[in-house]
Amino acid sequence: MDLETIFEQLASRREARVGALDAGARDALAALGVSVRDGGATLDDGIELLAPEDVRRYVGEAAAAWLDRIEVRAHIDSTNSELMRRALESSIDGVALLAEVQSAGRGRRGRGWTSPFGRNLALSLGVRLDMALTELGAVSLAVGVAVADALEELGVRGVALKWPNDLLVEGRKLCGVLIELPRAVEPPEIVVGIGINIGGAEAVGRLVEQGVADVTESVPDASRNRIAGRVIDAVFAVCRRFERGGFGPIKPRYDALHRFHGQPVRILAGPESVAGVVEGVGLDGTLRLRTESGIREFHGGEVSLRA
Ligand code: BTN
Repeated sequence: MDLETIFEQLASRREARVGALDAGARDALAALGVSVRDGGATLDDGIELLAPEDVRRYVGEAAAAWLDRIEVRAHIDSTNSELMRRALESSIDGVALLAEVQSAGRGRRGRGWTSPFGRNLALSLGVRLDMALTELGAVSLAVGVAVADALEELGVRGVALKWPNDLLVEGRKLCGVLIELPRAVEPPEIVVGIGINIGGAEAVGRLVEQGVADVTESVPDASRNRIAGRVIDAVFAVCRRFERGGFGPIKPRYDALHRFHGQPVRILAGPESVAGVVEGVGLDGTLRLRTESGIREFHGGEVSLRA
């Protein structure tokens, strides 16, 4: 039996008869948190599967009226890649796509994004913004603020931002945001991709070098459906706010959440490494760094910030 069929069975009836599996497939499943015993795989009781109607329950009225549909897939290559493909054919405004597992999850700056089956959250949202392409610079910072606030409201403690839009707890990564523009047209439609660790950080921690944090550290009974619904609601609201007033009104909250505001950091930009103190962020989302040679500005796509 192939992995896709196993994931579909697990998503529909929480168990799968897998028969004889070669060692490669068994290892691939184990890496995704699915253990096979006596020819069968069963989901842990603690796993809450995603369901569109359960996600929708937590979306407020305005966002619910805008949401065209919520789709949950048992498996996919990447929820962002799927919305990027669809955007070339038709509008993706108001489409929320979630997956129990991604086989080729993508992170910023060409990195991958790993997550076990049925844990954590892999969510992409299509949003049309009634503004010019040149005004979109800080939208990814605004989304970071919205997700941080939504998680805080759900009881997650100690959430901070790391420019441009990583969410950290005690310096460990809780959530990543990948915003992509499928087509350079106006009004633009963007793909907002969000990955949050909810119960799966331990498995992720075995696969990545970075420190990882998990929502369940402060909210042990966290519901993935509820978090998905509240995050969709918050992203919708911040996009409407950004559309009306740009990043200006959101920036004070960003500064308050930014762990490195006023702190000494190092920026890695290709072969260059620049030391300085974070002055703040610009209204276009750039990071402003006070260096020995004056203020320098960096754009999020190309560089990485180190404490
Ligand atoms: C990062 O911190 O590098 C960004 C990670 C973004 C991961 C999410 S998971 C849902 C969506 N689909 C993807 O392939 N990536 C984003």
